[in-house]
This record gives sequence, C-alpha cells and structure tokens, in this order.
Amino acid sequence: MKPFRILLPALTALALVLAACHNRKQEAATTAAPAPTVRIVPGQAPQASELALMMRAMTAFADSTRLRIAQGRELPLFPDQFRKLMTAEATPGMKDPKAFDPFAHAWLYHLDALYKAPETERTGVFNTLVQTCAGCHTTMCPGPLVKIKKLGLPAKAD
Ligand code: HEC
Repeated sequence: MKPFRILLPALTALALVLAACHNRKQEAATTAAPAPTVRIVPGQAPQASELALMMRAMTAFADSTRLRIAQGRELPLFPDQFRKLMTAEATPGMKDPKAFDPFAHAWLYHLDALYKAPETERTGVFNTLVQTCAGCHTTMCPGPLVKIKKLGLPAKAD
C-alpha cells in the first residue's frame, strides 16, 4: 500500500499545478472572472512548490508596482527574495531549465534596471520586465499569460 500512499498525493499535486498552468487561461478567456484561488482536496492541504509561491509573490509585486508607477508613487522596497529565482525549486516537470535560465537572468536584470531607471523611464522598463514574464511563460506554463498580459502599463502620452 505504501507506494500508493505516496503516489496519490503526488499525482493530486501534479494535477493541481497542471490546472494552475493550463486551465486558468480558458477560464479567464470564457468568463473574464478571476480564477478561484481556493482548491479543496480531501485529506490534504494544497501543495505549491517554492517557485510557484515565488511566482505568486512576483505577480503581487508586479500588480502593486504597476499601480504605484501609474500613480507617480515610489517603488516598493527592492524585492530581495526574488534573487532566488534561479534556484527556487519548481514542481517536477514544470520547468524547462534550458529556456528558464536565460529568461530568469533577463528578468532579474530588468528588475535591477527598474530600480536604477530615472522616474521618467520607469513605465518602459516596467513593461519590459512584464514582457520577460510573458516571454518565459510562452515557452512553459502558459496558463498565467492571460493575467500577465493585464499587468502592462499604457505608454505615457507625453
Ligand atoms: C524564467 C521563467 C519565468 C519567468 C520570468 C516568470 N515565470 Fe511565472 N512561472 C514559471 C514556471 C516554470 C512556473 C511553474 C512553477 C511551478 O509550478 O513550480 C510559473 C508559475 C507561475 C504562476 C502560477 C503559480 C501557481 O500558483 O502555481 C503564475 C501566476 C506566474 N508564474 C506568474 C508570473 C508573473 C506575473 C511573472 C512576472 C512578474 C512571471 N510569472 C515570471 C516561469 C516563469
């Protein structure tokens, strides 16, 4: 019975992650409502990898930074925790290291650039950062693309 006890939660977790990466797109496309964030699995807490949790934090960061830039407010404190992007453990099978590493490098580069950019250039650098999210997600885990596309800022009309 032992292998089954291990396999079943593992398969359930995998199914959840595949759902996170693949189903949201359709849900969002058909209903335009936010995807449900609560999932109920009998007898088991939902599992998320270190990378998946970091991605949720990156999404929240991009969302609030976008708003701050649009309102001409200061950037949030530099999010040091994202420096672990290269090494954060992914759900098995979710990450293609060949494509992941160059995009992750580029993402961290643009994150630094955002904090170095003069205020007038922040919109452009922020949009490049979001495009790098989309670039990586085009090569793997396409579900979040719908959400990512909504994170961009309109170009400044000046
Ligand atoms: C270098 C590639 C890469 C970049 C850049 C990247 N992602 Fe991800 N993202 C992934 C991978 C791989 C996963 C799957 C992680 C896992 O399941 O372990 C993921 C998962 C996600 C998820 C699903 C998390 C969950 O709840 O399971 C969201 C949402 C997400 N990313 C949004 C973003 C946003 C927003 C950005 C930019 C701010 C971004 N991603 C940048 C590769 C990337």
